[in-house]
This record gives sequence, C-alpha cells and structure tokens, in this order.
Amino acid sequence: MTDVTAAGRDKMPHHLAIIMDGNGRWAKARMLPRLMGHRKGAETVRMVVDECSKLGIGYLTLFAFSAENWSRPMSEVSALMNLLKKYIRMEVPRMMRDNVRFNVIGNRNDLPEDVRAELEDAITTTAGNTGLTLTLALSYGARQEIVHAAGLLAVDVAAGKVDPATVTERDFARYLYTSGLPDPDLLIRTSGEMRISNFLLWQLAYAELYFTDINWPDFSRQELLKAIADFQSRERRFGLTGEQLKARG
Ligand code: IPE
Ligand code: IPE
Ligand code: MG
Repeated sequence: MTDVTAAGRDKMPHHLAIIMDGNGRWAKARMLPRLMGHRKGAETVRMVVDECSKLGIGYLTLFAFSAENWSRPMSEVSALMNLLKKYIRMEVPRMMRDNVRFNVIGNRNDLPEDVRAELEDAITTTAGNTGLTLTLALSYGARQEIVHAAGLLAVDVAAGKVDPATVTERDFARYLYTSGLPDPDLLIRTSGEMRISNFLLWQLAYAELYFTDINWPDFSRQELLKAIADFQSRERRFGLTGEQLKARG
C-alpha cells in the first residue's frame, strides 16, 4: 500500500485542490443515470474530507460546479443543486465533530435561494472551527473571478483608496474569492482529462499537477495517498536551479 511516511508528513501539501471529474462517465459505464455518478461522487467527497482532516492538511478546495456547468441540461443542473443542498445539510454535524471550517468560492448570487441559504448556514455554523478549511468552488470560473477582482480594485481606485501604481500581486489577490487562502500546492484531476477547465488560474501558478485516469466516484484513500506521495517526491524549484535549492537546505 502507498504510504505517506512520517518523514513525508512535513512535506504534506498545505493546500490541496481537486477537480472532481468523471461522475457521468462512471455512471454511463454502469448503464446508470448520470445522477447516480454524482451521488457516488458525494461519497468520495466525504472520504477525502475525512482523510485530509486526519492527515493534517490545512486547506482542501474542491471544484464542485463550474460557471460553465450551468449550460448542462436543466434536469442535471437541478439534480446537482438538490444533491448539494442535501450534502451540506447532512455534513454540517460531521464538520462540527471534525473541526472543519466550511467555505465557498464562486458567484453565489447565481445559486438558487434555498441552496444559498443552506451554504450560508453551514459557513456561519462552522466559522469558529480551526481544523481543515474545506472550500467548495460553486458556480466558479477563474476568469470571471479575475474580472470580478479587477472590478473591485477599480472601485477602490476610483474612490481614491488605492494608488494603481503601487498595487502588488499580494494586494490584487485580496480581491479574489480566495482571499485569505494560501495558493494550492497540489492539484489533482481525476478521469484522465489533462486540463484546468477555468479553475483557480491565478492561484495555481506554481502548483504541482497530478492527473489520474480514475473517475471521481472510484477515487480511493489509496489513490489520494499515492498522489500525495508523488507530490512529496517532486522538487519544487519556483524558478531557481536545483543547486540553488540545495545550497538553501
Ligand atoms: C464531474 O463529473 C462533476 C461535475 C462537473 C458537476 P462530470 O459530470 O463532469 O462527469 P463526466 O466528465 O461527464 O464523466
Ligand atoms: C470541471 O469539470 C468542473 C468540475 C469538476 C466541477 P467539467 O467536466 O465541467 O470540465 P470539462 O468540460 O471536461 O472541461
Ligand atoms: Mg466532466
């Protein structure tokens, strides 16, 4: 079995981001409706949240519904919204038990009122928790996020609160939905697709990317540990040479 060794624990990703993909194909391969794939996928979410908590990972961000996913058939969209609402309602007691702080990024205004109320309730209830920060990306698109941030910055510039000549990357990042979250160290995408699909374009600048052919409903604890072990074996150079890194220790 793949093991995350004790030594490897200090190289644990701080922030793990996941593009949970392949629910539909998982269902199709079993001649089941797509919704069954999403339901099974929700079980994988529960397992991954649990494992990340146990491993002491600080931040877990899951791409659950993209801004572009609104264009799917209406029946699938509403089934996903229903599933989301049920999932949140069921999971809040568990989040309280495990000290998980719940968070959402994306354009919340697009979400149905009842879903939004459920999300806001979960955010408020778990706000004081100090363990894993679980962020769901909902109605999220990275380009939309960057445009939104630029708009907020422009308002502050127009109000004379910010001098555009002095705006740093760090200043700009405060206008993103992810303000307050560290950048992801590791991005996992399941189902064999090797693309980012408009997820965290700004924040993933230096993330390690890990792709697996396994569909999200089949993604297991072993697979998660395998991805983390792979991450731990990589040398993150951030533009430097390998020799420079060695000299730094
Ligand atoms: C990921 O699975 C879940 C969402 C995007 C909501 P998909 O529904 O994209 O599954 P595939 O890619 O069609 O197999
Ligand atoms: C990305 O998956 C969005 C989520 C996982 C929520 P998609 O299935 O929507 O992405 P594409 O269409 O394959 O790029
Ligand atoms: Mg997909």
